[in-house]
Amino acid sequence: MNSPIFRMLLLTTLSGLILSCSPQDSESGGTVVESTFNTTLGIVEIMSMVLEPAADSLWDNAGWIESAAGYEELYPTTDEGWDYVIAQAAVVAESGNLLALPGRALDNDAWMVYSQGMIDAGLMAMDAAKRRHEEDFFQAGAQLYSVCRACHQSYNPDILSRFVEDDAQ
Ligand code: HEC
Repeated sequence: MNSPIFRMLLLTTLSGLILSCSPQDSESGGTVVESTFNTTLGIVEIMSMVLEPAADSLWDNAGWIESAAGYEELYPTTDEGWDYVIAQAAVVAESGNLLALPGRALDNDAWMVYSQGMIDAGLMAMDAAKRRHEEDFFQAGAQLYSVCRACHQSYNPDILSRFVEDDAQ
């Protein structure tokens, strides 16, 4: 991570980002970046290969379960464990953007609200995990779950019945 090449790439990427943001931020114009997206992966693939595995790892690492030995806490107990859930929360947050891309978004209305809701919940989970705050991390997971549910209810009620049983906490 600290190699000079990595730093150089990072700097180049960052200055590219700043340049590409500037047209929006200033009146003076500048280079307008035209983005192209490859949306070969459909909604089902994003759901089952990107979003659900990441969301599952958040839920699997929050709260507690009752076992033969008594109550067992599920929260990470090591820095590595927390780093892992931070990265999974980042995937959840960015998945909101993936869903909102032209070619994937089903409308410009509720779909965007739910996609934004994924981003918010993912960022909340990242923040809570960085602070090692178990209660906030749990709440972020609950909020995430309610956004998944709400979107499925609006766009594909069949999914709901399949998916509720798996993830009931
Ligand atoms: C912006 C709306 C939206 C959000 C948010 C959303 N989903 Fe979905 N999801 C869908 C739609 C639409 C489908 C059905 C796609 C189809 O069958 O064409 C689906 C399907 C699925 C499927 C079934 C895939 C399959 O194999 O058929 C799973 C699993 C899933 N979602 C998990 C999740 C999880 C977990 C979350 C939250 C972390 C979530 N989804 C959030 C819209 C959403």
